[in-house]
Order: sequence, then structure tokens, then C-alpha cells
Amino acid sequence: MTVPIPQDQHLTHSATDPAIDAIDSAVVNVNIELPDDHEASVTPIAPSDVAVESTTVVLGITGRPMPTFPAPRPLTSHGPAYVIAMTNQKGGVGKTTTTINLGAALAEAGRRVLMVDMDPQGSLSIGLGVNPDELGGKRTVYDMLMDSKASPANEVVMPTSIKGLDLLPANIHLSAAELRLAGEVAREYALERALEVVKPYYDYILIDCQPSLGLLTVNALTASDGVIIPMECEFFALRGVEMLRETITKVQERLNNRLTIDGVLPTMVDARTLHTRETVQAVFDAFGEAVFHSTISRTVKFPETTKAGVSIIEQAPNSSGAQAYRNLAWEMVQRLEAKGSVAT
Ligand SMILES: Nc1ncnc2c1ncn2[C@@H]1O[C@H](COP(=O)(O)OP(=O)(O)O)[C@@H](O)[C@H]1O
Ligand SMILES: [Mg+2]
Repeated sequence: MTVPIPQDQHLTHSATDPAIDAIDSAVVNVNIELPDDHEASVTPIAPSDVAVESTTVVLGITGRPMPTFPAPRPLTSHGPAYVIAMTNQKGGVGKTTTTINLGAALAEAGRRVLMVDMDPQGSLSIGLGVNPDELGGKRTVYDMLMDSKASPANEVVMPTSIKGLDLLPANIHLSAAELRLAGEVAREYALERALEVVKPYYDYILIDCQPSLGLLTVNALTASDGVIIPMECEFFALRGVEMLRETITKVQERLNNRLTIDGVLPTMVDARTLHTRETVQAVFDAFGEAVFHSTISRTVKFPETTKAGVSIIEQAPNSSGAQAYRNLAWEMVQRLEAKGSVAT
């Protein structure tokens, strides 16, 4: 049986693939409108006025029925912030891209968002149009971590081109923080202490971690309520995941018992390939319902926006990439509201 899904979402598969059998057994008959630049997005974007028969099931790439997520309701007041660390010790999996675009999508939904650059490479700062090497005398996350009384977060923070979205910038100096913090008392709590002063003003604080599980990442996890793990959908995606889980468990047990895994996000997805679908299945087997329904497709738009120092939400608001991050933001807000973790 052939699944009547949009032309460019056709999946190649072997007849023995159980995930595909599940898809084959579902009735998928929704007219799905795709953005002009659509590139094999795996997140069906079903407009709300589409007539859906009661028996119709739209399956996402994770094999589960794909819910539609409503736009978050406007907030009447703001803060205190829910803090999320974007973590995976692998580089190039989409941590920074997710921080920027999830943040932009939350800001678009009327949330006040602060982004924290905890990577000495300063990629988050660069991705938001700030040249971290030309900050002049401006103080950075490094100064804030070293002495949050002399450099409080509210003095280090800078606005971005996006309304409602601010940045705590970093540059290469941050690499010295790891060494210098190592000898300090309560060294794992430096970021948490520093963020206290700004938490009342924001709804979300998103921390972009460096690709390691060192002291800077442990600081991020200690300061956070939740973790989002972006995972590139390729063969070695799950390598090292045990180590990441152990680190999260240790932080939960020893430093921060409120920390939870808020979600695992499949990135660089190409729904046309069996390889991607097998990887997503393996990620789902490992993390279960923690895996977001929303996934992010591989598209050249992301490297382009990174280079331009803007979010895809600003540069191409109607693109499938922008829609995918909007979907993620809406799904995440719904999850957190359902758990009572954030105000509604
Ligand atoms: N969905 C995607 N499709 C294609 N390229 C992407 C995607 N997400 C991120 N990229 C690109 O991949 C590179 C690494 O992404 P990045 O977010 O910096 O990863 P990390 O922060 O985990 O190292 C960047 O050049 C970015 O523009
Ligand atoms: Mg990064």
C-alpha cells in the first residue's frame, strides 16, 4: 500500500521495515500545505481549517500520531524564568542553531527570552550578529562567572535585533573560566548564582553549551530546570549518549535535583532516507516520549542564517525551517504548561 503523503515527503524503504509497516497501516489523507521552500520537512504542517476525519491519523517520523500544537497564549505578566540548557557533547548537532531559533520563536510568541553563551567559541553571539572579538571593553559571561558582584548579569546583558530577546555574550576568554573556576568553592554554582538577578525579568533563559561535559556545561546543568538534547540524525548519533546521561544523573543527584530532560530533538533530518528514519527510531527507543514530535530538517537555510547573524524566524519567517522551530517552541510550551513548570 502506498501512503498518500506529499510528493517530496515520499519515503524510500524496505518492505520489512516495521516503522514503515506502522505508517502503511495508518490512513493518511490530510491535504498538507507546504511552504514554497519546503525541503523534505518531516513535520506535517496541517492548517487548522483542514477537515480531518475522525479516523485520520497523521504519523510523524517518530512513528507516533502527530499532534498539532496551538500557539501559546499571550502572557499577562512575565517571569520568573524557566531555565533550559542546550546540551550534547558532540559538536555540530544543532545546539546553537536551536538556541537561536527556539529563542526567536518564543520571543515571537510574546515570551521574554535571555540567551546565555556558554561556549568560548562565541557561536551563539556570532549567530545573533555580535562579533565576540570586538566587544571592546564590554563585559562578558567570563566576567560574570568570575565575579557576579562586580559584573552582575543585568550589566552584562545586551539586546539583540529581536524584540524580547536578550543575550549574555561570550568570547574566547571564557575558556579560561574553566581553569579558574576549578579551584573555587562551589565552582559548579557560579552560573546559577549569576543568573538569580535576571531571572525575574524573563520567561525563559536558554543556555547554549559548548561541546564538552566539562565544568562550564556542569555549571549550565546546575543552573537549569531542564535540558534539551539536540541530536543529529546520523549513524553515530547515540554514541556518547550514555556519558551525557550519566552526567545529567550526577548533576541531578549531587547538585540540582530539579533538573529534568525536557526533550530530545532530532535535527538534520532527511525524511527521504531510511538512514534518518532508522536513527530517529533508535533515538526514540533510547529516550521514548522525551523525544519531541517536532523535528528539524536538514536545509542550507540554517548555515545561511548563521552566516548572516540572524535567526531563520526573522530572515525567512514562512520557510519550513522557521515553521519547524515555531512548532518546537509551541510543543515545548505545551509540555511545560502541562507539567505546571511554566505559567499559563
Ligand atoms: N537543520 C540543519 N540543517 C542544515 N544545517 C544545519 C542545521 N542545523 C544547524 N546547521 C548547521 O550546522 C552547523 C553546526 O550547527 P550548530 O548549531 O552550530 O551546532 P552545535 O552548536 O551543536 O555545534 C552550523 O553551520 C549550522 O548552520
Ligand atoms: Mg554551538
